[in-house]
Amino acid sequence: MLFLLILFCWGPAVLTSGQVWPLYGTPRKTVTLSSYGGHVFQEEGVWNYTTMLLREDMGVLILGARGAIFALDLNNITHKKAMVKWEVTPTMRTSCSFKGKDFETECQNYIQILHKMPDGRMYVCGTNAFNPTCDYMSYTHGKLILENNRHEGRGRCPFDPFTRSASELVDGELYSATSMNFLGSIPVMMRSLNSSIKTEYTMSWLWDPTFIGIKHVAEGEENPEGDDHKIYFFFSEAAIEFDSYNKMDVSRVARVCKGDLGGQRTLQKKWTTFQKARLDCSLPENKLPFLIQDVFLFCPGNWNTCVFYGVFTPQGDTSQYSTVCAYRIQDIRDVFSKGKFKTMVSVDYDIKWVTYYGDVPDPRPGACINNDARQKGYFKSLDLPDKTLLFIKDKPLMDQAVESSPQQPLLVKKGAAFTSIVVASTTALDGSLHQVMFIGTASGSVLKAVSYNGEMVIIEEVQLFAHSEPVKILRLSGTAAQLYAGSEVAAVQMPLSACDHYTSCMDCVLARDPYCGWDLTTDSCVAINSIHPDTHSDVVQSLRDGNATRCPAVESRKIIQSFHPGKMVSLQCAPGSNLAQVQWHVNGHPVENSDVHRLRHNSLLILNASVSDARHYSCSSVETSKGRDYITQTVTYELRLVDTMTAPSVQPLVLC
Ligand SMILES: *[C@@H]1O[C@H](CO)[C@@H](O)[C@H](O)[C@H]1NC(C)=O
Ligand SMILES: *[C@@H]1O[C@H](CO)[C@@H](O)[C@H](O)[C@H]1NC(C)=O
Ligand SMILES: *[C@@H]1O[C@H](CO)[C@@H](O)[C@H](O)[C@H]1NC(C)=O
Ligand SMILES: *[C@@H]1O[C@H](CO)[C@@H](O)[C@H](O)[C@H]1NC(C)=O
Ligand SMILES: *[C@@H]1O[C@H](CO)[C@@H](O)[C@H](O)[C@H]1NC(C)=O
Repeated sequence: MLFLLILFCWGPAVLTSGQVWPLYGTPRKTVTLSSYGGHVFQEEGVWNYTTMLLREDMGVLILGARGAIFALDLNNITHKKAMVKWEVTPTMRTSCSFKGKDFETECQNYIQILHKMPDGRMYVCGTNAFNPTCDYMSYTHGKLILENNRHEGRGRCPFDPFTRSASELVDGELYSATSMNFLGSIPVMMRSLNSSIKTEYTMSWLWDPTFIGIKHVAEGEENPEGDDHKIYFFFSEAAIEFDSYNKMDVSRVARVCKGDLGGQRTLQKKWTTFQKARLDCSLPENKLPFLIQDVFLFCPGNWNTCVFYGVFTPQGDTSQYSTVCAYRIQDIRDVFSKGKFKTMVSVDYDIKWVTYYGDVPDPRPGACINNDARQKGYFKSLDLPDKTLLFIKDKPLMDQAVESSPQQPLLVKKGAAFTSIVVASTTALDGSLHQVMFIGTASGSVLKAVSYNGEMVIIEEVQLFAHSEPVKILRLSGTAAQLYAGSEVAAVQMPLSACDHYTSCMDCVLARDPYCGWDLTTDSCVAINSIHPDTHSDVVQSLRDGNATRCPAVESRKIIQSFHPGKMVSLQCAPGSNLAQVQWHVNGHPVENSDVHRLRHNSLLILNASVSDARHYSCSSVETSKGRDYITQTVTYELRLVDTMTAPSVQPLVLC
C-alpha cells in the first residue's frame, strides 16, 4: 500500500522535474475553470460555438454554432433558455458537395453573424452550405424565433466557414468585411441593409486580406470640427509597399466615415473616405511584421479617450512569441488626417510605393464631411470634387504606420499563441482605475494581466477548455462581471475575479489582483467592490508595490510521517505560485540535490531512507516581490522510523 502511494507521487514529480520556471511572461497562478467558479455549455451533437451576441437587456447570451442558435442565461450559461435550429436542407447540402466542397464539414450552416437591430430584433447570417444567407430573429416569451425572412448574405457573411470575417451593426446598417464570391477571391468591406457602399476591387485597396474586426467610434459626438462618426476595420493583408522576394503580410487599420454615400461620378457606390495604414506591434529581433489576431475597443469616457487593444502573432516564424499593443484613437486619427500618403511609381518596369510629396487636393482626400467642408459647400460625399475622389481612389495607403502607445508592446509572451482579447476596467481599493486584459490563447486558456506603471503582471492563467481547444471568441459583460469564451467544442463563462481562491494573506496580496484584497478582520480574500467604505483600512491591497509586509507571518504546518528503511520517501511541498520557489532544510541545514536527496518542483525525495533520516525536514515557499522575499508557507515534516514490530499495518503517513 505504501509503495503504491509512493509510486503515485513519483509520477507527476518526474514529469515536472525537467521544467524551468522563467519568471518573465509567466502567469503567477495556473487555475482550472471549475476552481474559478466557471460554467460550461455544450449541446450534444452541436459544434463550433464561435459566434456570440451579449443581450444584457434580456439577460441572455445568444450563441451561434453549427446549425443552431442558443439563448443562454447570462449568469449561468449551462442553463439553456432557448434554442432554434437552422440547418442546411439535404438538397443544398448535396449541391454544395457537388460543387467540390466537403459534405461533412463545409456543406453545413455555420452561424457567423449575430447582431442586435435598433428595434431589438436580431440579424443572423450563416454560411448555409457555401450559400451565405441571412434572416431576422427575435427572442420573446422565452423562445428564439427565426422570422423566415431569408435573403442572400453575399458580402455580409463568408461562403467558406474556415475563413475569417468581421461585421458590426451600427444604427441599422451592417458593416461587413468578407469575401464576395464562392471562390473567396473577391474581398470586400461594405455597408449594407439600407444604403450599400463597397470597397473598390483593386489590389491597392485590399490584397489577399484576413479580416479581424470592425469597430464603431462615435467621433461625431461633441466634435468641435463637426466631424463624422467613424468605422474602423482591422485586418492583415499582403503588403504592396515592401520590396520583398516573397509575399509578406502586414497588419492594417482602415477607416471610413459613417455618412459616406459614395461619389457622384468617380467612386459611385464606393467608399470615398477609405484610408488605411500599417499597424505595428513587433519585436525588434523579428524581421517579419507580426499579424493582428483580434482587436478590442476600450472607451473609458468620451470618444477621444478610446484605445484599441490588439493581439499579434508572428508570421512564418517558429519563435512563438505573442504580443499585445494598444493604439490611441488620436494617434490613428493623426495618421489619417494629417499624415502623408503613399503613391505608386514605375521604376524599371517595376512598381514601387513611395512617399507622395505632391499637392494634396482640398477637401483633403479621405476626410469626412466636417464644418470646414460644409463651409466650402460640400454637404455630403456626393458633392466632393473629382480630384479629391481620384486621389483617394489611387492612394488609399498612408505613408506612416500607426505607432502603439507605449511604443513597445504592452505584453510579450513566449510559448503562447494569442487569439483574442477583451479589456475590463476596475477600481482598486485606493480608488485608482486599472485596465485588466483577458487574453485568449490557442491552447484554450485565458491570461489575466494588468500593467502597473509599465510593469506587466500576469495575475493568472485560467484553463478554459479541455484538450487545448483554441479560444475562438471572447466577450465581456461589464454588468454581469463575466467573461464568455467560445471554442469549436464548447462555450464557457468565468467571473472576472475569484478572490476566494487566494488562500492566505500573502497569496492574496502578492497576486496584485485589482479586484481582490485581504480583509484582516475576517481573514479572507474579498472582492474590493463588496467591502464597505468604513472597513477599507482593514483591507490590504498593494498593486504597484506588491508589498505584503502588513500580512501576518504564516504559521508553520507540522506533519508527522513514518517511513520504512530502504524505501523511498516523498515529502510534498508545492510552491504557492508559479513565481515562488521552494527551499528545504533538514535540521536547519539547506538540502541540496545529491545521491540521497532529489529536489522536485513540488516535492523532496529521499531515495533510500535510513535510520539517520529520522529528522525534521522543513519546506518554505518563498516568493520575491519587488526585491523582497516573502515566505508564503512553511511545512515541517517530522520523519519517524516505522517500528515494524509494533505498528505494521496503519499508515496515515504519505500526504500526496
Ligand atoms: C467545427 O468543429 C469541429 C469539431 O471540433 C472541427 O473539426 C471543425 O474544424 C470545426 N469547423 C470549423 C469551420 O472550424
Ligand atoms: C446552472 O444551470 C444548470 C442547468 O440549468 C444547473 O443544473 C446548475 O445548478 C446551475 N448552477 C448554478 C450555480 O446555478
Ligand atoms: C437609408 O438610406 C437613405 C439613403 O439611401 C437615407 O436617406 C436614410 O436616412 C437611411 N436610413 C437609415 C435608417 O439610415
Ligand atoms: C511596505 O508596507 C509597509 C507597511 O504598510 C511600509 O511600512 C513599508 O514602507 C512598505 N515598503 C515599501 C518598500 O514600500
Ligand atoms: C540502501 O541503504 C542500505 C543501508 O544504508 C544499503 O545496504 C543498500 O544497499 C541501499 N540500497 C540502495 C539501492 O542503494
